[in-house]
This record gives sequence, structure tokens and C-alpha cells, in this order.
Amino acid sequence: MRMIDLIHKKREGESLTKEEIDFIIQGYTRDEIPDYQMAAFTMAVFYQGMSRREIADFTNAMVHSGETIDLSAIEGIKVDKHSTGGVGDKVSLIIIPLVAAVGVPVAKMSGRGLGHTGGTIDKLEAIEGFRVELSREEFINHVNNYKMAIAGQTANLAPADKKLYALRDVTATVDSIPLIASSVMSKKIAAGADAIVLDVKVGSGAFMKSLGEAKELAETMVEIGNSLNRKTIAIITDMSQPLGREIGNANEVREAIEVLRGQGAKDLTAVALSIASYMTILGGIYEDFDTAHEELVKVIQSGQAIEKLKQLVSIQGGNPEVIDHPEKLPQAKHHIEVKAWESGFVASIDAESVGTAAMLLGAGRQKKGDTIDHAAGITLYKKIGDEVNPDDTLCVLHTNLENYDQAVQLINKAYTFSNKKPKPKDFILDVIA
Ligand code: URA
Repeated sequence: MRMIDLIHKKREGESLTKEEIDFIIQGYTRDEIPDYQMAAFTMAVFYQGMSRREIADFTNAMVHSGETIDLSAIEGIKVDKHSTGGVGDKVSLIIIPLVAAVGVPVAKMSGRGLGHTGGTIDKLEAIEGFRVELSREEFINHVNNYKMAIAGQTANLAPADKKLYALRDVTATVDSIPLIASSVMSKKIAAGADAIVLDVKVGSGAFMKSLGEAKELAETMVEIGNSLNRKTIAIITDMSQPLGREIGNANEVREAIEVLRGQGAKDLTAVALSIASYMTILGGIYEDFDTAHEELVKVIQSGQAIEKLKQLVSIQGGNPEVIDHPEKLPQAKHHIEVKAWESGFVASIDAESVGTAAMLLGAGRQKKGDTIDHAAGITLYKKIGDEVNPDDTLCVLHTNLENYDQAVQLINKAYTFSNKKPKPKDFILDVIA
């Protein structure tokens, strides 16, 4: 078999066999297929697409390009969650203690963030002492004893995806449905969960800009998951503005604490409760959405959810006092207010620009290996639909850097206003089961 013939075949819109797909993924993982050929192949996929069968074979080949995690030593149905990524998305911080509190085992592996803010494990490291490097034994024991653990993803999990994602990132081939679907699902399946809830984001801060595209991605991933024996549900959620009010790391932990105390922003609370509800259904705890939702609200109101977060912090070596005293989380030196310059209503907030501004303030990594400033970030005081007058604070930027002009400029461009109050958008746009 020759890679050039397979690139040609895909370029002409033909389907590849399972053997051909295995050849590509194995060859690429072993460095036998060079980046330039793989780049040509991904561009051919970008334009010609792949059938659902090809996507499932591509996913499976990436799952088996490295180690697969065996979670069979953990009792119960292990349910994982994944988001296709958005600005201010701190849902994992909320759902881990929330669903663990009702008995669903969550064995969460997370990558470090590359982009606007850190990933879930970077955010948790804003808590003094929090350890994300757990031995396999510790990880399994925590889940068996406390129903939850979170650890950094092992280096050898779906290595083909790791290489391919980095290549796609620099060859304008990230936003391809077959490539996103196989990338996400290969990591989830290799990580060993029995069931998966996917949060597919749509809007200015997401890969998928239209609801139609988001549905296609959601349906593709649900079909892959089910075809590989993982019960999978996808919910499609709005990302036309950042989720919640905080974008950063320590400040996102603070906002997650607010949600678990029942005092969180409405959009974030709705998305987190919805994902958590489906996780408890797949985990066999509740039978239907309404019951699950009602019970989870009670878990928050009774204080069990916040206690469970304290337990998570404590078992992973962090200082649990920060949960009752979030002011102990890292704080930045500078807090810069950005004010409104006209009256009316906030019509839009470009999530992508807000995310980039947060990164420029130090909250995210521009390249692998960069350090994150846990104290840096943005707090939004005005969101879409809020009334504003000149001099009202739109948001506050937090940073330890002396030069924040570019971030301020981005924020000024991110907000638009109108005379008419915009119609509120649903937070949850669809569910694909
Ligand atoms: N997230 C992933 O893990 N992979 C993609 O391709 C896009 C988003």
C-alpha cells in the first residue's frame, strides 16, 4: 500500500477501507508517513468528508495507536464527559463532584489547555497543593472510595490523535467534522469509560458556528460511541458568548464554587445541570431527565455538592479551605475596568475575542510548555441582553502583566450594543441520544 495512492483516492472522494485507514494511522504514529503526506490527506478529508463507517474505523485506529485504559477495577458504570471546547467552560469542575455525590463513578482524565485558558487540570492547579499526577493505583482507589478522581492524560493515550491534532492546528484542518469527531471519540474511548456525555458547543466561541453543523458533529459522535459499545448522548449548547461570567483559571474555580453553592450564573448552572443529569441517567442512577435534574438541584441545595468538591480537593492534596474562602485563590496585581461607551443593550459578545484577550492577560498558553498565570482572567459584568449606560462596567480584566492594551482593545471590539433588547437564546439547543 502506498500513502500517495490513498491521498489520491480520498482526494477523488472515494471511501477508504478499514485496512487502508489502519495503514495510515499506524504509519503516521510510527513516523513512517511524513507530515506533508498526512497534511495533504487531512486536507482531502476536509473537502471530501468521510462516511460514518470510515469515521468509526478512523476513530478505532487512533484508539489503538497507544495505550487503552482499563477501568474494570472500578465498580459501577463509569461515565465520562467531554466538551468540544468553549470560552469560560468550567463545567467539568462542577459535574465531577455533583454526579459523584449521587454515586456515579467519575474517572476523569483531562489534557492541559492550549489556547484561551488552561484546561480543567490547569484550573484545578490554581488551588494550592492540588495534585493532578496520580499513580494508577491512587486514581482507581479514589474512584472506588470517593467516586471521583481527576488526572492528567497519560502521554500514550491516542498518540495518533495527539500528532494529528498538532498537524491540523497548523494546516487549517481543525474544523472538519470527521476529524473532530474521530479526535474527540478516540480519546474518550481510549480513556476507558463505559458511557459518555458530549457537550457540543455552537456559536462564535466554538468550532461549530451553525446549529446544523453542530447537530451533524453531535450525531456523528453519538453514532461512533454507540457503534463502539459506549452509550453516548450529546447535548448542543450555546457558545455565542462566554459561558458564565468568569474566564481564566482561579476565577473559573471561584465560579464553579458558586454554582455548587446554588448561586451560579444561570447559563452555566443550566448547562452543568443538564450534562450532570444525563451522566446520572447513563450511570443508571435515575431513569429520566426531570427526576435527575430535580435530585441534582436538591444535592446542591442541601450542601452535599460543595462538600463533595471539598473532598475532591482534599484527597488530591489541595487546600480545602479555599472552597469556603475563595479569596485565598491566586489574585492578580492589576484589575482593569472596561466601561460601556453608549446606552442600550448588549447585543453580542464575541467569545473568541474575549478568550484571546484572556490568553493575552496570561490565562492561557500560546504554545505548548508556556506557563499559565492562574490569577489572570476576565470577569464579565454585562452579558447579552443586559442594559448598559455609558460608564457602566462591562468587564474587569485581571492580570499581573504591565502591558494589557491589546487585551483591552480586543474587549472593546468584542462587545456590540443595540437599542432593542435582544431575544434571549436557549442555553440548551438540542439533545442527540
Ligand atoms: N477537541 C478535540 O479533542 N479534537 C478536535 O479535533 C477538536 C476539539
